[in-house]
Amino acid sequence: MRVVIKDTPAEAARYAADVFTRQLLGQPGSVLGLATGSTPLLLYEELIERCRLGALSFREASTFNLDEYLGLGATHPQSYRYFMDQALFDRIDIDKTRTHFPDAASPDPQKAARDYERCLRDAGGVDLQLLGIGANGHIGFNEPYSSLGSRTRVKTLTAQTVADNARFFSEDEFQPQLALTMGIGTILEARRIVLLATGPAKASAIKQSVEGPITAKCPASALQLHPAATVILDIEAAGALEDPALFRHIEKQDQALSPSANGVAS
Ligand code: PGA
Repeated sequence: MRVVIKDTPAEAARYAADVFTRQLLGQPGSVLGLATGSTPLLLYEELIERCRLGALSFREASTFNLDEYLGLGATHPQSYRYFMDQALFDRIDIDKTRTHFPDAASPDPQKAARDYERCLRDAGGVDLQLLGIGANGHIGFNEPYSSLGSRTRVKTLTAQTVADNARFFSEDEFQPQLALTMGIGTILEARRIVLLATGPAKASAIKQSVEGPITAKCPASALQLHPAATVILDIEAAGALEDPALFRHIEKQDQALSPSANGVAS
């Protein structure tokens, strides 16, 4: 696992944007795995700006989002499809017929989960997967104690996740407690993974993911098994790490060796 520590959330987002830019320049038809939440917003703004300036294009790319709230249709303002349209897709040159979400409005969610796995496979798998992390260590909606080999399926959100996400819902609004999510096994098949985390609320989950044992109690710890996973942090999310100086040292050495290849090794 490679750990990159930046001073600010904006710098962390720019670093992640560099990884996406390099991916798309090298392989314009890349399959990107995308995430919702507050954390990726700065990254998405950076990608939108680069696209506007003509520095990168999503014209040939496809995307697969990690998860979707069960029971919310694509036009529901709280759906992750709606979120992604607003935050990214409507503002870049992507062909929206190639942007995919689990069909959480399906009357048969188990079948929708299997269909999503098949669609992913047919697309050739994810080249670059973006992840956020929950304060409880979840990735996608794989809450603690999810099987590390899990595939796309229905998951019950924990009380903590529901509380963490309540800020996106108004007081009297229905807030789903179930979601369709890619599994940890699905996520680990991505050829490359970037996890972005900022702010002090993520510091403990990051410490457990990077330094702790690989355990279903902290789903993001499964990334230790991945040969090309990069964890990009701001200084606050890195705040509980035992030896941040080590990661800064490694990063400096790698930059000196290969200044344009950020995050390639892990
Ligand atoms: P956040 O969510 O970016 O809104 O903190 C991350 C997550 O729960 O995966």
